[in-house]
Amino acid sequence: MSHGERKARLEALLLGFQALWRPQPFKIETPDWCAAHPALAAELLALDDETVDRLMPDNQALIALLSGHLPELAELARLIDLPPASQASPHPHPSDDGGRLFTDIPGRKQRQIVAYAAAFGQPRAPVLEWCAGKGHLGRLLAQRWHWPVASLEVDAALCEAGEDLARRAQVDCMQHFVRADALAAGSARHLAGRHAVALHACGDLHTRLIAAVAASASPAVDLVPCCYYRTANETYRPFAETALTLSRDDLHLAVTETATASAKQQRQSRQALAWKLAWVELRRHLTGEAAYTPFPPVPEAWLRGRFGEFIDHMLERSHLVADLDAVTPDRFEAIGHARAARMRRLQLVRLAFRRPLEVWLLMDMAVFLEGHGYTVAVGPFCEPALTPRNLLISARR
Ligand SMILES: C[S@@+](CC[C@H](N)C(=O)[O-])C[C@H]1O[C@@H](n2cnc3c(N)ncnc32)[C@H](O)[C@@H]1O
Repeated sequence: MSHGERKARLEALLLGFQALWRPQPFKIETPDWCAAHPALAAELLALDDETVDRLMPDNQALIALLSGHLPELAELARLIDLPPASQASPHPHPSDDGGRLFTDIPGRKQRQIVAYAAAFGQPRAPVLEWCAGKGHLGRLLAQRWHWPVASLEVDAALCEAGEDLARRAQVDCMQHFVRADALAAGSARHLAGRHAVALHACGDLHTRLIAAVAASASPAVDLVPCCYYRTANETYRPFAETALTLSRDDLHLAVTETATASAKQQRQSRQALAWKLAWVELRRHLTGEAAYTPFPPVPEAWLRGRFGEFIDHMLERSHLVADLDAVTPDRFEAIGHARAARMRRLQLVRLAFRRPLEVWLLMDMAVFLEGHGYTVAVGPFCEPALTPRNLLISARR
C-alpha cells in the first residue's frame, strides 16, 4: 500500500468515526457515543481492572475489541501494521559495545539509540543532528561511521555537556555542537547538503525539520517524531489540504501511552487521575457549573501528600470557599476513584484510534516528502516497550 493510500484510508476512518475519539472521558463523564453504541459501552464498563491494564497499551487488541461492535473499523488493524523501517546497510561497523560512548546515558535510551542507528544504516552525507540534547545519537554516528556530525541544540548547558562527552569519547574531532534555535528562520541553512537525523523531536521541531529538509533538498532525513501536541498553533498545520482538523487535545491522543512507566509510576498516575477527577466533581458541586472547565497543571507535590491537603491547595488556588463541615471533601475521594475507573474503561474507545492518528500524522509528512522527490519508508525502529514513540520516517533523495 502506498503512503498516499494509507493516509487516505486512515483519514476516512478518523473522520467517519470522530464521534468516538474526539470526546475525552476525563472531561465528559458519558460521551454521546455511549447512547449510540450501548452494547459497546456496557462491555467496556464490565471489564475488570486487569483486562483494562492489558488492553490499554495494545493497539491491535483495542481495534479488535472495537471491531466486534463496528466491523468497518477492522481495517485499522492493517493500516497501522507498518513493516520495520530499515535502510540498514550491510557495511561492517565498529561494535555497539561503546563503553566510552554511553557513559551517563540511561539503559533504555542507549538501546533506543543503538536501534535507531541500526535501522538507519550508513549516513549519505555529513550529519546534522536536529534538537540533539547532549548529542548521544550524533556521538554514536560519528564514532561508527567517521562522518562529521553537527549537533544542533538550543540549550547552552546541553551543548557544553555534549562537547564534554564527545571529548571523553574521543570523537570531538568528528562531532561539534551548533547552539541555535531550530525554529529560527536561519537554522534551515544548516541542513543543506546534510543527512538530517532527529530522535524524539517534539511537535513544531519535527514539522519544521521536514519542511526545511524539503526546502533545502537535503540528501536524506531520518526522523523519530514525538509530542505532536507541542505546537505554537491552535491546530495541527497539515502538509497537504485535509478535512481532518486536529486540536492540541486531539494531538495529545497520539501520545497517550504508559508502556514504559514502572508499576510505581502507574500507581501514582492512577491516584493522580482519581484525585483530579475528585476535584472536578467537588468543584462542580460547589459552583453548580455542569460544563467542564480546564484547570492549570497540578504540582506533583500536591498529589503526593494527603487527599485533604490536595483539596485545600486546589480550593485556595481557585479562590473557592467551601463550608467543609457541610461539604465533607473527603467523600469526594471515593467519587474520584469511581469516575477514574469509569473513565479508564470508556477511554479504551479513544485509545483504539491513538496509533491510527499517529500513523496518519507520519503519512502526512511522508507524502509531503515524496512530493519533493524523496523515497520514504515509515515504520517501527524498535519494540514499543523501549519507547512507545517508535516510528521512524526514513527519506532519501
Ligand atoms: C526530547 S529532547 C530529545 C533530545 C535528543 N534528541 C534525545 O533523543 O536524547 C528534545 C531536545 O530539543 C531541544 N530543543 C527544544 N527546543 C529547541 C529549539 N527551539 N531549537 C533547538 N533545540 C530545541 C531540547 O533542549 C531537547 O534537548
